[in-house]
Amino acid sequence: MDGMAMFRQLHDKYPTLPIIILTAHGSIPDAVEATREGVFSFLTKPFDSQKLLAEIRLALQVSTGIPASNDEGGENNWRKGIIGCSSQLENLLLEARRIAPSDVSVLIQSPSGTGKELLAQAIHDASRRADKPFVAINCTAIPESLFESELFGHAKGAFTGADRTRDGLIKEADGGTLFLDEIGDMPLDFQGKLLRFLQEKQVRPVGSNEMQPVDVRVLSATHHDLDHAVYTGKFREDLYYRLNVITLELPPLSERREDISMLANHFLRQIHTRDRNCVARSYSPQAMALLTMAKWPGNIRQLMNVVEQVAVLATTPVISESLVLRALKGEPDKTESFVQAQRRFERDYLIKILQMTSGNVTHASKQAGRNRTEFYKLLHRHKIDPKQYRLAAKTMS
Ligand SMILES: Nc1ncnc2c1ncn2[C@@H]1O[C@H](COP(=O)(O)OP(=O)(O)OP(=O)(O)O)[C@@H](O)[C@H]1O
Ligand SMILES: [Mg+2]
Repeated sequence: MDGMAMFRQLHDKYPTLPIIILTAHGSIPDAVEATREGVFSFLTKPFDSQKLLAEIRLALQVSTGIPASNDEGGENNWRKGIIGCSSQLENLLLEARRIAPSDVSVLIQSPSGTGKELLAQAIHDASRRADKPFVAINCTAIPESLFESELFGHAKGAFTGADRTRDGLIKEADGGTLFLDEIGDMPLDFQGKLLRFLQEKQVRPVGSNEMQPVDVRVLSATHHDLDHAVYTGKFREDLYYRLNVITLELPPLSERREDISMLANHFLRQIHTRDRNCVARSYSPQAMALLTMAKWPGNIRQLMNVVEQVAVLATTPVISESLVLRALKGEPDKTESFVQAQRRFERDYLIKILQMTSGNVTHASKQAGRNRTEFYKLLHRHKIDPKQYRLAAKTMS
């Protein structure tokens, strides 16, 4: 068959595979028509090898979302998980690369879903600590009472249940990088202890007298405005300065729209490798235009969710505009979990019933079909004081 026929067969089978055609001089088929059919580009023989490489690089970048690189030494391996080509992202990564080798503390301050954890991991990978552990600690996930033993470890018998000595997370990161995620949610009480550790570079496990030296590089991240938290007294100023020697800010997705198509293609490919049932392979131009223009309050995490939704719903290889439209509309700014929704419902219900009964718990519990003890338990769980509704009823009458 001729080149174009072969192209059509390949393209049918692998619609997203970029195809470059090499033709003998003078035998270029109707280039415009062929490009419209999906040929990525043409080169005429004899071709310039550098030109061919550049063309391949571009094809890979455009169609797969993998950043272009002629990186034989793996010099760019540290950032390979971070997809994007916007100048904003490139500048930020340049700065991250520059500061990675030193042990300077870095605070990553950006909105939710912009890739803070990914950036922290990349800084670690670009540092001299790359072959040592990267330990990420999410400060919102640790109950306040457990902070000290989780981070500093504990001695055997330090408290009930401490049946053996355990190293803390900081010790686990020894030689490597400690990533304190959502640092704005660290309990005030613990902030002082963390500061002392940063100054002394030693930890003392709970219930132990022994100080253990630990060598870690500290990266932290927050989507809160820490400046403001310092101002309102929720975050220690001295700790803030210690953690925030350098600030990196990942711009929201809406300020780097150039990255959207690469990211959308990248996520679709990921779903493909994972899920053999997924038939979607690419986006129609209109679908991609919609993605590129959307608001993205939830940033890259939200884009990932939308791609996941359309990939699951698509019944054809090319994702349509209407499918994207539906996913974008159905994407609330914030999705409540089942438990959150249940809790909100319970609370609203209890308040309504107390208002109706002017805070009379006997009446209210009867209405709710619960005995008094159970009803009090519910009120307690939601920190609702029935007295308030008695007062409210009185002042109103
Ligand atoms: N540039 C990027 N390239 C590829 N994937 C990305 C990129 N940025 C973010 N992601 C992906 O998006 C998701 C959200 O990123 P990440 O968890 O790092 O964000 P975050 O800023 O820590 O968000 P949150 O504040 O919600 O914790 C992750 O699954 C991450 O892998
Ligand atoms: Mg995060």
